Amino acid sequence: MSNRIAAILAGSALAALASPAFAQFGPPAELAEGEGKALVEGVCTACHLANNIVYSNGYTAEGWELITASMVDLSASPAHDTIVAYLAENYPPNGTRDATPVDGPLEIEFTGEWKTPKLGARPRDPVEAPDGMIWYVGQRGNTIGRINPETDEIDEWDLPPETMAHSVTIHDDGGVWYLGNGNGTIGKFDPETGQAQVFEMPDPEARDPHTGEFDRDGTFWFTLQQSNMIGRFDPATEQIDLVTATSPNSRPYGIKIADDGTVWVARNGNGGGLYKVDPDTMALTEYRLPGEDSTTRRFDIAENGMIWLDNSAGGKIASFDPETEEFTQWDSPSGPGSHPYGMEVVDGIVWYNESGTRPDLLVRFDPASETFQSWKIPSGPDGIGAGINRHMRPTADGDLLIHQDATNRIFRVDIPEPGEDSAAAGAPDSEG
Ligand code: HEC
Repeated sequence: MSNRIAAILAGSALAALASPAFAQFGPPAELAEGEGKALVEGVCTACHLANNIVYSNGYTAEGWELITASMVDLSASPAHDTIVAYLAENYPPNGTRDATPVDGPLEIEFTGEWKTPKLGARPRDPVEAPDGMIWYVGQRGNTIGRINPETDEIDEWDLPPETMAHSVTIHDDGGVWYLGNGNGTIGKFDPETGQAQVFEMPDPEARDPHTGEFDRDGTFWFTLQQSNMIGRFDPATEQIDLVTATSPNSRPYGIKIADDGTVWVARNGNGGGLYKVDPDTMALTEYRLPGEDSTTRRFDIAENGMIWLDNSAGGKIASFDPETEEFTQWDSPSGPGSHPYGMEVVDGIVWYNESGTRPDLLVRFDPASETFQSWKIPSGPDGIGAGINRHMRPTADGDLLIHQDATNRIFRVDIPEPGEDSAAAGAPDSEG
Protein backbone atom coordinates (compact mmCIF):
# COMPACT_ATOMS: atom_id res chain seq x y z
CA MET A 1 0.00 0.00 0.00
CA SER A 2 1.30 3.46 -0.80
CA ASN A 3 2.19 5.80 2.03
CA ARG A 4 -0.49 8.19 0.90
CA ILE A 5 -3.27 5.60 1.10
CA ALA A 6 -1.99 4.31 4.42
CA ALA A 7 -2.00 7.86 5.72
CA ILE A 8 -5.58 8.47 4.61
CA LEU A 9 -6.79 5.23 6.13
CA ALA A 10 -5.02 6.23 9.35
CA GLY A 11 -6.71 9.63 9.17
CA SER A 12 -3.47 11.57 8.75
CA ALA A 13 -3.26 15.08 7.30
CA LEU A 14 -0.61 13.80 4.90
CA ALA A 15 -3.58 12.70 2.86
CA ALA A 16 -3.67 16.04 1.12
CA LEU A 17 -0.38 15.35 -0.65
CA ALA A 18 -1.27 14.37 -4.17
CA SER A 19 0.50 11.73 -6.21
CA PRO A 20 0.26 11.61 -9.98
CA ALA A 21 -3.09 10.35 -11.23
CA PHE A 22 -3.94 9.53 -14.82
CA ALA A 23 -6.92 10.96 -16.62
CA GLN A 24 -9.82 9.05 -18.08
CA PHE A 25 -12.98 10.11 -19.94
CA GLY A 26 -12.48 13.84 -20.37
CA PRO A 27 -12.90 16.52 -17.71
CA PRO A 28 -12.57 15.61 -14.04
CA ALA A 29 -15.86 14.52 -12.45
CA GLU A 30 -17.03 15.22 -8.89
CA LEU A 31 -17.96 12.42 -6.53
CA ALA A 32 -21.51 12.45 -5.13
CA GLU A 33 -22.04 13.96 -1.67
CA GLY A 34 -22.55 11.47 1.13
CA GLU A 35 -20.97 9.72 4.06
CA GLY A 36 -17.71 8.24 2.87
CA LYS A 37 -17.06 10.74 0.08
CA ALA A 38 -13.90 12.07 1.68
CA LEU A 39 -12.57 8.56 2.25
CA VAL A 40 -13.26 7.49 -1.32
CA GLU A 41 -11.76 10.71 -2.62
CA GLY A 42 -8.64 10.16 -0.59
CA VAL A 43 -8.12 6.44 -1.13
CA CYS A 44 -9.39 6.00 -4.66
CA THR A 45 -8.03 9.09 -6.37
CA ALA A 46 -4.49 8.26 -5.31
CA CYS A 47 -4.12 6.38 -8.58
CA HIS A 48 -6.79 7.79 -10.90
CA LEU A 49 -9.42 10.48 -11.16
CA ALA A 50 -12.88 10.01 -9.68
CA ASN A 51 -13.98 9.68 -13.35
CA ASN A 52 -13.33 5.94 -13.29
CA ILE A 53 -15.96 5.66 -10.57
CA VAL A 54 -18.45 8.31 -11.71
CA TYR A 55 -18.56 7.08 -15.33
CA SER A 56 -18.39 3.39 -14.44
CA ASN A 57 -21.16 0.95 -15.28
CA GLY A 58 -21.95 0.88 -11.53
CA TYR A 59 -21.84 -2.17 -9.29
CA THR A 60 -23.56 -3.77 -6.32
CA ALA A 61 -21.80 -3.71 -2.94
CA GLU A 62 -20.41 -7.15 -3.74
CA GLY A 63 -19.19 -5.91 -7.12
CA TRP A 64 -17.49 -2.85 -5.64
CA GLU A 65 -15.89 -5.09 -3.04
CA LEU A 66 -14.47 -7.39 -5.73
CA ILE A 67 -13.27 -4.60 -8.01
CA THR A 68 -11.60 -2.47 -5.38
CA ALA A 69 -9.86 -5.54 -3.98
CA SER A 70 -7.76 -5.71 -7.18
CA MET A 71 -6.59 -2.16 -6.53
CA VAL A 72 -6.23 -1.62 -2.80
CA ASP A 73 -6.40 -3.93 0.21
CA LEU A 74 -9.06 -2.50 2.51
CA SER A 75 -9.77 -5.80 4.23
CA ALA A 76 -8.21 -4.79 7.55
CA SER A 77 -9.27 -1.15 7.39
CA PRO A 78 -12.04 0.32 9.55
CA ALA A 79 -12.88 2.45 6.47
CA HIS A 80 -13.77 -0.62 4.41
CA ASP A 81 -17.50 -0.77 5.18
CA THR A 82 -18.04 2.96 4.72
CA ILE A 83 -16.24 2.97 1.35
CA VAL A 84 -18.13 -0.03 -0.04
CA ALA A 85 -21.49 1.28 1.26
CA TYR A 86 -20.84 4.73 -0.27
CA LEU A 87 -19.95 3.25 -3.64
CA ALA A 88 -22.93 0.87 -3.74
CA GLU A 89 -25.32 3.61 -2.64
CA ASN A 90 -24.15 6.27 -5.07
CA TYR A 91 -22.95 4.15 -7.98
CA PRO A 92 -25.25 1.13 -8.29
CA PRO A 93 -25.44 -0.77 -11.62
CA ASN A 94 -26.62 1.72 -14.26
CA GLY A 95 -26.35 -0.26 -17.50
CA THR A 96 -24.97 2.73 -19.41
CA ARG A 97 -22.03 0.72 -20.65
CA ASP A 98 -23.57 -2.75 -20.88
CA ALA A 99 -22.00 -4.88 -23.56
CA THR A 100 -24.09 -6.50 -26.31
CA PRO A 101 -22.10 -9.30 -27.87
CA VAL A 102 -22.78 -10.37 -31.45
CA ASP A 103 -23.61 -14.08 -31.74
CA GLY A 104 -21.86 -16.27 -34.25
CA PRO A 105 -20.71 -19.80 -34.97
CA LEU A 106 -17.15 -19.79 -33.63
CA GLU A 107 -16.35 -21.04 -30.16
CA ILE A 108 -13.34 -19.60 -28.42
CA GLU A 109 -12.14 -20.14 -24.89
CA PHE A 110 -10.63 -17.73 -22.41
CA THR A 111 -8.05 -19.82 -20.65
CA GLY A 112 -5.09 -19.20 -18.43
CA GLU A 113 -6.53 -16.37 -16.40
CA TRP A 114 -3.68 -15.04 -14.32
CA LYS A 115 -3.95 -12.43 -11.58
CA THR A 116 -0.82 -10.35 -11.24
CA PRO A 117 0.28 -9.79 -7.65
CA LYS A 118 0.79 -6.05 -7.11
CA LEU A 119 -2.56 -4.33 -6.49
CA GLY A 120 -3.54 -1.45 -8.77
CA ALA A 121 -0.45 -2.00 -10.92
CA ARG A 122 -2.23 -1.54 -14.28
CA PRO A 123 -0.67 -4.67 -15.79
CA ARG A 124 -0.60 -4.57 -19.56
CA ASP A 125 0.79 -5.63 -22.89
CA PRO A 126 1.38 -9.37 -22.24
CA VAL A 127 3.67 -11.02 -24.74
CA GLU A 128 5.01 -14.54 -25.24
CA ALA A 129 8.77 -15.15 -25.25
CA PRO A 130 10.43 -17.86 -27.38
CA ASP A 131 10.64 -20.08 -24.27
CA GLY A 132 6.86 -19.87 -23.78
CA MET A 133 7.00 -17.53 -20.78
CA ILE A 134 4.55 -14.60 -20.78
CA TRP A 135 5.95 -11.17 -19.93
CA TYR A 136 3.98 -8.05 -18.97
CA VAL A 137 4.60 -4.69 -17.32
CA GLY A 138 2.66 -3.06 -14.45
CA GLN A 139 2.69 0.51 -15.69
CA ARG A 140 1.36 2.16 -12.55
CA GLY A 141 2.97 -0.30 -10.18
CA ASN A 142 6.38 0.24 -11.84
CA THR A 143 6.77 -3.52 -12.20
CA ILE A 144 7.76 -6.06 -14.81
CA GLY A 145 6.47 -9.61 -14.52
CA ARG A 146 6.80 -13.09 -15.96
CA ILE A 147 4.14 -15.79 -15.98
CA ASN A 148 5.03 -19.43 -16.42
CA PRO A 149 1.89 -20.76 -18.13
CA GLU A 150 2.88 -24.36 -17.36
CA THR A 151 3.03 -23.88 -13.59
CA ASP A 152 1.03 -20.63 -13.25
CA GLU A 153 3.97 -19.28 -11.24
CA ILE A 154 4.37 -15.49 -11.49
CA ASP A 155 7.58 -13.56 -10.79
CA GLU A 156 7.34 -9.81 -10.48
CA TRP A 157 10.18 -7.32 -10.11
CA ASP A 158 10.35 -3.57 -9.43
CA LEU A 159 11.82 -1.50 -12.24
CA PRO A 160 14.11 1.50 -11.58
CA PRO A 161 12.13 4.33 -9.88
CA GLU A 162 9.75 6.31 -12.15
CA THR A 163 10.19 3.93 -15.09
CA MET A 164 6.41 3.32 -15.39
CA ALA A 165 6.98 0.98 -18.33
CA HIS A 166 4.25 1.11 -20.93
CA SER A 167 5.11 -2.05 -22.82
CA VAL A 168 7.48 -4.98 -23.03
CA THR A 169 8.78 -6.44 -26.27
CA ILE A 170 10.73 -9.67 -26.63
CA HIS A 171 13.62 -9.89 -29.09
CA ASP A 172 13.96 -13.12 -31.12
CA ASP A 173 16.97 -13.94 -28.93
CA GLY A 174 14.70 -13.89 -25.84
CA GLY A 175 15.95 -10.47 -24.63
CA VAL A 176 13.32 -8.62 -22.57
CA TRP A 177 13.01 -4.94 -23.57
CA TYR A 178 10.70 -2.41 -21.95
CA LEU A 179 9.92 1.23 -22.67
CA GLY A 180 10.10 3.61 -19.71
CA ASN A 181 7.07 5.85 -20.24
CA GLY A 182 7.70 7.70 -16.98
CA ASN A 183 11.39 8.49 -17.27
CA GLY A 184 12.22 8.53 -20.97
CA THR A 185 14.21 5.32 -21.09
CA ILE A 186 14.62 2.03 -22.90
CA GLY A 187 15.56 -0.87 -20.66
CA LYS A 188 16.81 -4.39 -21.16
CA PHE A 189 15.72 -6.47 -18.21
CA ASP A 190 17.67 -9.45 -16.94
CA PRO A 191 15.53 -11.87 -14.90
CA GLU A 192 18.69 -13.58 -13.57
CA THR A 193 19.82 -10.47 -11.72
CA GLY A 194 16.50 -8.61 -11.53
CA GLN A 195 18.38 -5.59 -12.91
CA ALA A 196 17.93 -3.57 -16.07
CA GLN A 197 20.45 -2.06 -18.43
CA VAL A 198 19.02 1.40 -19.07
CA PHE A 199 19.39 3.70 -22.10
CA GLU A 200 18.24 7.31 -21.81
CA MET A 201 16.58 9.34 -24.55
CA PRO A 202 19.11 11.75 -26.09
CA ASP A 203 16.58 14.61 -26.07
CA PRO A 204 14.76 15.87 -22.94
CA GLU A 205 11.70 16.53 -25.14
CA ALA A 206 11.47 12.78 -25.75
CA ARG A 207 9.63 12.02 -22.54
CA ASP A 208 7.40 9.01 -23.00
CA PRO A 209 8.58 5.94 -24.93
CA HIS A 210 5.42 3.93 -25.52
CA THR A 211 5.29 0.85 -27.80
CA GLY A 212 8.17 -0.86 -29.60
CA GLU A 213 8.96 -3.52 -32.23
CA PHE A 214 12.21 -5.00 -33.50
CA ASP A 215 12.84 -5.10 -37.22
CA ARG A 216 14.62 -8.05 -38.79
CA ASP A 217 18.03 -6.33 -38.40
CA GLY A 218 17.48 -6.02 -34.66
CA THR A 219 16.76 -2.27 -34.67
CA PHE A 220 14.19 -1.40 -32.02
CA TRP A 221 11.56 1.02 -33.35
CA PHE A 222 9.31 2.81 -30.88
CA THR A 223 6.69 5.52 -30.49
CA LEU A 224 6.48 8.44 -28.02
CA GLN A 225 2.83 9.44 -27.83
CA GLN A 226 2.78 12.72 -25.89
CA SER A 227 6.18 13.81 -27.20
CA ASN A 228 4.79 13.34 -30.73
CA MET A 229 7.89 11.45 -31.84
CA ILE A 230 9.04 8.17 -33.34
CA GLY A 231 12.38 6.65 -32.40
CA ARG A 232 14.80 3.92 -33.34
CA PHE A 233 17.44 2.32 -31.18
CA ASP A 234 20.34 0.22 -32.37
CA PRO A 235 21.30 -2.09 -29.50
CA ALA A 236 24.70 -2.76 -31.11
CA THR A 237 25.84 0.88 -31.16
CA GLU A 238 23.41 2.14 -28.46
CA GLN A 239 22.52 4.98 -30.84
CA ILE A 240 19.02 6.46 -30.51
CA ASP A 241 17.54 8.52 -33.37
CA LEU A 242 14.33 10.48 -33.01
CA VAL A 243 12.02 12.17 -35.48
CA THR A 244 9.15 14.52 -34.64
CA ALA A 245 5.82 13.71 -36.27
CA THR A 246 4.91 15.91 -39.21
CA SER A 247 1.58 17.04 -37.65
CA PRO A 248 1.24 18.42 -34.14
CA ASN A 249 -0.49 16.25 -31.56
CA SER A 250 -0.70 13.21 -33.80
CA ARG A 251 0.23 11.05 -30.81
CA PRO A 252 2.26 8.15 -32.28
CA TYR A 253 0.88 5.01 -30.64
CA GLY A 254 0.97 1.43 -31.99
CA ILE A 255 3.88 0.40 -34.23
CA LYS A 256 4.40 -2.51 -36.63
CA ILE A 257 6.96 -3.45 -39.25
CA ALA A 258 5.91 -4.76 -42.67
CA ASP A 259 7.67 -7.66 -44.38
CA ASP A 260 9.46 -5.19 -46.69
CA GLY A 261 10.95 -3.40 -43.67
CA THR A 262 8.65 -0.38 -43.83
CA VAL A 263 7.75 0.88 -40.37
CA TRP A 264 4.09 1.82 -39.77
CA VAL A 265 2.84 3.88 -36.82
CA ALA A 266 -0.69 4.57 -35.55
CA ARG A 267 -1.82 8.19 -35.17
CA ASN A 268 -3.87 8.51 -31.98
CA GLY A 269 -4.59 12.18 -32.60
CA ASN A 270 -5.06 14.76 -35.30
CA GLY A 271 -7.25 12.72 -37.63
CA GLY A 272 -6.06 9.21 -36.82
CA GLY A 273 -4.74 6.83 -39.46
CA LEU A 274 -1.10 5.95 -40.02
CA TYR A 275 2.40 7.19 -40.57
CA LYS A 276 4.65 5.32 -42.95
CA VAL A 277 8.27 5.62 -41.83
CA ASP A 278 11.14 5.20 -44.25
CA PRO A 279 13.46 2.90 -42.28
CA ASP A 280 16.63 4.53 -43.67
CA THR A 281 15.82 8.24 -43.57
CA MET A 282 13.00 8.17 -40.98
CA ALA A 283 11.02 10.38 -43.37
CA LEU A 284 7.29 10.22 -42.60
CA THR A 285 4.31 10.01 -44.91
CA GLU A 286 0.96 10.75 -43.30
CA TYR A 287 -2.30 8.94 -44.08
CA ARG A 288 -5.32 10.37 -42.26
CA LEU A 289 -8.58 8.57 -41.73
CA PRO A 290 -11.69 10.34 -43.01
CA GLY A 291 -13.38 12.39 -40.25
CA GLU A 292 -11.73 15.09 -38.14
CA ASP A 293 -12.31 13.25 -34.88
CA SER A 294 -10.81 9.92 -35.90
CA THR A 295 -8.05 8.43 -33.74
CA THR A 296 -6.05 5.24 -34.19
CA ARG A 297 -4.44 3.40 -31.31
CA ARG A 298 -3.54 0.01 -32.69
CA PHE A 299 -3.34 -1.85 -35.98
CA ASP A 300 -1.81 -4.91 -37.59
CA ILE A 301 -0.54 -5.93 -40.99
CA ALA A 302 -2.13 -9.00 -42.61
CA GLU A 303 -0.06 -11.53 -44.55
CA ASN A 304 -1.46 -10.12 -47.81
CA GLY A 305 -0.06 -6.69 -46.90
CA MET A 306 -3.42 -5.11 -46.03
CA ILE A 307 -3.26 -2.98 -42.88
CA TRP A 308 -6.13 -3.27 -40.38
CA LEU A 309 -6.53 -0.44 -37.90
CA ASP A 310 -8.98 0.91 -35.39
CA ASN A 311 -10.69 4.26 -35.37
CA SER A 312 -11.18 4.39 -31.61
CA ALA A 313 -12.87 7.77 -31.31
CA GLY A 314 -15.04 7.02 -34.35
CA GLY A 315 -16.19 3.61 -33.04
CA LYS A 316 -15.00 1.96 -36.27
CA ILE A 317 -12.42 -0.36 -37.69
CA ALA A 318 -10.73 0.26 -41.01
CA SER A 319 -8.54 -1.31 -43.63
CA PHE A 320 -5.76 0.54 -45.44
CA ASP A 321 -4.35 -0.72 -48.69
CA PRO A 322 -0.73 0.49 -48.99
CA GLU A 323 -0.92 -0.01 -52.79
CA THR A 324 -3.94 2.20 -53.43
CA GLU A 325 -3.51 4.26 -50.22
CA GLU A 326 -7.24 3.95 -49.58
CA PHE A 327 -9.09 3.46 -46.32
CA THR A 328 -12.34 1.50 -45.99
CA GLN A 329 -14.27 1.70 -42.70
CA TRP A 330 -16.83 -0.46 -40.90
CA ASP A 331 -18.91 0.51 -37.85
CA SER A 332 -17.95 -1.57 -34.84
CA PRO A 333 -21.03 -3.46 -33.58
CA SER A 334 -21.32 -1.59 -30.25
CA GLY A 335 -21.50 1.71 -32.09
CA PRO A 336 -19.94 5.17 -31.70
CA GLY A 337 -18.98 4.63 -28.04
CA SER A 338 -17.42 1.21 -28.62
CA HIS A 339 -13.85 2.55 -28.67
CA PRO A 340 -12.02 -0.23 -30.57
CA TYR A 341 -8.57 -0.60 -29.01
CA GLY A 342 -6.12 -3.54 -29.20
CA MET A 343 -5.89 -5.21 -32.61
CA GLU A 344 -4.20 -8.24 -34.10
CA VAL A 345 -4.63 -10.14 -37.36
CA VAL A 346 -4.41 -13.92 -36.93
CA ASP A 347 -4.74 -16.20 -39.99
CA GLY A 348 -6.37 -13.40 -41.97
CA ILE A 349 -8.97 -12.70 -39.26
CA VAL A 350 -9.05 -9.31 -37.52
CA TRP A 351 -9.30 -9.50 -33.72
CA TYR A 352 -9.80 -6.43 -31.58
CA ASN A 353 -11.58 -5.33 -28.43
CA GLU A 354 -14.35 -2.83 -27.84
CA SER A 355 -13.16 -1.03 -24.71
CA GLY A 356 -16.09 1.36 -24.25
CA THR A 357 -18.41 -1.40 -23.02
CA ARG A 358 -18.32 -3.30 -19.72
CA PRO A 359 -17.04 -5.83 -19.82
CA ASP A 360 -14.77 -5.26 -22.80
CA LEU A 361 -15.84 -7.29 -25.80
CA LEU A 362 -13.36 -9.32 -27.81
CA VAL A 363 -14.43 -8.92 -31.42
CA ARG A 364 -13.70 -11.09 -34.45
CA PHE A 365 -14.07 -9.58 -37.92
CA ASP A 366 -13.82 -11.77 -40.98
CA PRO A 367 -12.73 -9.59 -43.92
CA ALA A 368 -13.93 -12.20 -46.44
CA SER A 369 -17.56 -12.23 -45.28
CA GLU A 370 -17.43 -8.79 -43.56
CA THR A 371 -19.10 -10.33 -40.51
CA PHE A 372 -18.54 -9.71 -36.81
CA GLN A 373 -18.79 -11.96 -33.78
CA SER A 374 -17.96 -10.90 -30.23
CA TRP A 375 -17.56 -12.25 -26.71
CA LYS A 376 -17.50 -10.72 -23.24
CA ILE A 377 -14.00 -10.78 -21.78
CA PRO A 378 -14.41 -12.51 -18.38
CA SER A 379 -12.74 -9.52 -16.72
CA GLY A 380 -11.56 -10.77 -13.39
CA PRO A 381 -13.13 -11.43 -10.05
CA ASP A 382 -16.28 -13.45 -10.71
CA GLY A 383 -16.48 -12.00 -14.23
CA ILE A 384 -17.48 -8.71 -12.66
CA GLY A 385 -16.66 -6.71 -15.77
CA ALA A 386 -14.06 -4.07 -15.19
CA GLY A 387 -10.93 -3.07 -16.98
CA ILE A 388 -9.57 -2.40 -20.43
CA ASN A 389 -7.45 -4.39 -22.82
CA ARG A 390 -4.89 -2.01 -24.31
CA HIS A 391 -2.80 -4.26 -26.49
CA MET A 392 -3.12 -7.82 -27.74
CA ARG A 393 -0.47 -10.04 -29.21
CA PRO A 394 -0.50 -13.52 -30.71
CA THR A 395 1.18 -16.58 -29.27
CA ALA A 396 3.38 -18.82 -31.42
CA ASP A 397 0.45 -21.16 -32.02
CA GLY A 398 -2.04 -18.52 -33.12
CA ASP A 399 -3.83 -17.81 -29.86
CA LEU A 400 -4.09 -14.35 -28.31
CA LEU A 401 -2.79 -12.78 -25.12
CA ILE A 402 -4.98 -10.03 -23.70
CA HIS A 403 -5.35 -8.28 -20.34
CA GLN A 404 -7.73 -6.28 -18.16
CA ASP A 405 -5.80 -3.47 -16.53
CA ALA A 406 -8.17 -2.53 -13.66
CA THR A 407 -8.54 -6.05 -12.33
CA ASN A 408 -4.92 -7.15 -12.68
CA ARG A 409 -5.86 -9.94 -15.07
CA ILE A 410 -4.01 -11.47 -18.01
CA PHE A 411 -5.74 -14.02 -20.25
CA ARG A 412 -4.92 -16.38 -23.01
CA VAL A 413 -7.65 -16.73 -25.63
CA ASP A 414 -7.69 -20.11 -27.38
CA ILE A 415 -8.78 -19.66 -30.97
CA PRO A 416 -9.53 -22.79 -32.99
CA GLU A 417 -7.30 -23.04 -36.05
CA PRO A 418 -9.01 -22.62 -39.41
CA GLY A 419 -10.68 -25.95 -40.16
CA GLU A 420 -10.39 -27.09 -36.55
CA ASP A 421 -13.92 -25.91 -35.87
CA SER A 422 -16.33 -27.02 -38.55
CA ALA A 423 -18.92 -24.37 -37.74
CA ALA A 424 -16.37 -21.59 -38.03
CA ALA A 425 -14.94 -22.88 -41.26
CA GLY A 426 -18.43 -23.09 -42.71
CA ALA A 427 -17.78 -26.74 -43.61
CA PRO A 428 -20.63 -29.20 -43.75
CA ASP A 429 -21.16 -31.31 -40.65
CA SER A 430 -18.81 -34.22 -41.04
CA GLU A 431 -21.07 -36.62 -39.13
CA GLY A 432 -23.09 -38.78 -41.48
C1 HEC B 1 -3.03 1.53 -6.37
C2 HEC B 1 -3.75 2.18 -7.44
C3 HEC B 1 -5.26 2.22 -7.36
C4 HEC B 1 -6.06 2.57 -6.31
C5 HEC B 1 -5.65 3.01 -4.94
C6 HEC B 1 -7.42 2.50 -6.78
N1 HEC B 1 -7.44 2.11 -8.10
FE1 HEC B 1 -9.11 1.99 -9.28
N2 HEC B 1 -7.91 1.54 -10.88
C7 HEC B 1 -6.55 1.40 -10.84
C8 HEC B 1 -6.08 1.12 -12.17
C9 HEC B 1 -4.62 0.89 -12.57
C10 HEC B 1 -7.20 1.11 -13.01
C11 HEC B 1 -7.23 0.92 -14.50
C12 HEC B 1 -7.26 2.28 -15.07
C13 HEC B 1 -7.18 2.36 -16.54
O1 HEC B 1 -7.89 1.61 -17.24
O2 HEC B 1 -6.44 3.20 -17.02
C14 HEC B 1 -8.34 1.39 -12.17
C15 HEC B 1 -9.65 1.51 -12.63
C16 HEC B 1 -10.77 1.67 -11.83
C17 HEC B 1 -12.12 1.62 -12.28
C18 HEC B 1 -12.57 1.47 -13.73
C19 HEC B 1 -12.70 0.03 -14.08
C20 HEC B 1 -13.06 -0.15 -15.53
O3 HEC B 1 -13.93 -0.93 -15.81
O4 HEC B 1 -12.39 0.47 -16.38
C21 HEC B 1 -12.94 1.77 -11.20
C22 HEC B 1 -14.43 1.76 -11.18
C23 HEC B 1 -12.06 1.96 -10.05
N3 HEC B 1 -10.74 1.89 -10.47
C24 HEC B 1 -12.50 2.17 -8.76
C25 HEC B 1 -11.65 2.38 -7.68
C26 HEC B 1 -12.12 2.64 -6.35
C27 HEC B 1 -13.58 2.71 -5.94
C28 HEC B 1 -11.01 2.80 -5.57
C29 HEC B 1 -10.94 3.07 -4.10
C30 HEC B 1 -11.54 2.10 -3.23
C31 HEC B 1 -9.85 2.63 -6.43
N4 HEC B 1 -10.30 2.39 -7.70
C32 HEC B 1 -8.53 2.74 -6.00
C33 HEC B 1 -5.72 1.54 -9.74
C34 HEC B 1 -6.15 1.94 -8.49
